[in-house]
Amino acid sequence: MSSITSLKGIILVADDNESVREPLIELLRLNCYRVIAVENGEQAFREVCSQPVDLVLLDVMMPGPTGFSVCRAIKARPETRFLPVVLITGLSCADDRIRGIEAGADDFLHKPVKKEELLARVRSLVRLKRYTDELENAESVLCTLARSIEAKDPYTEGHCDRLSRYTVSLAEKIGLSGEQRNDLRRGGIVHDIGKVAVPEFVLLKPGPLDAAERKIMKEHTIVGERICAPLKSFRNVLPIIRLHHEKQDGSGYPDHLKGVEIPITACILQTVDIYDSLTTDRPYRKALSKEKALEIMWEETRRGWWDADLVSALEGLLAESPLVFSAASV
Ligand SMILES: [Fe+2]
Repeated sequence: MSSITSLKGIILVADDNESVREPLIELLRLNCYRVIAVENGEQAFREVCSQPVDLVLLDVMMPGPTGFSVCRAIKARPETRFLPVVLITGLSCADDRIRGIEAGADDFLHKPVKKEELLARVRSLVRLKRYTDELENAESVLCTLARSIEAKDPYTEGHCDRLSRYTVSLAEKIGLSGEQRNDLRRGGIVHDIGKVAVPEFVLLKPGPLDAAERKIMKEHTIVGERICAPLKSFRNVLPIIRLHHEKQDGSGYPDHLKGVEIPITACILQTVDIYDSLTTDRPYRKALSKEKALEIMWEETRRGWWDADLVSALEGLLAESPLVFSAASV
């Protein structure tokens, strides 16, 4: 019997056939895994939604939902999308493999399942799950920190989540890839994380900042990049954090980049950042209307600050889907 200290992971085994299920359970338990055993797809999905699991072994053919549909449902839930799923198929079913890959399965085992093969796959997939857990934990710490900074200032409440949503819509409109949209979703939340280093008397000052205070405030782009740099999955989010205050004519900060030197993702975040700040209440003025905000943005674009194509795309998006940009839909 395994002790809690040597527990290697939690495995869900779903198979309606007792003569397949029981030997699997015994083998895994002998090798220090905790096993949750179920007899059908419905129970399998219920278990992964209600408790932490490190790996799922799913028979393809079961009463009720098949292994394919359970696998697809697991991969469709944000909370379980990184949970590794192994489908157990018959040797003769070549089509099962294709259907399994389409359903998002991470690996396959053929019946009769060979002990050594099973243990080797379980070991490597549980290890993979540990890495993705660490990654998700680190990302969620960063997002929580970013939201806690935002919460200090009642005027910016909800700003990060709105930005995350707006940037993805604008990126979609101009045809950016799924990966870039994902970078923007995260960039929208953490772009101002460097404000953690800005003292409250500057961060919360109701009036305009003096030169020394502006210098401190500008540091938030560099500090934010430094905070997120150790996270490898954030490598394409770093330019968004560092460069979201650059301007097309080189008068922005911190690197005074011009035009195409500024990555498109940073320009997208910047465009919606400005729109959101103009259309929400500030200590020194009430929220401006959509029309007034766009008028100001076009004026600043003519002055050489913003990317005209993006301001135009934003204007189009506001006309087509006004609800996306409604604070009420946050
Ligand atoms: Fe900022």
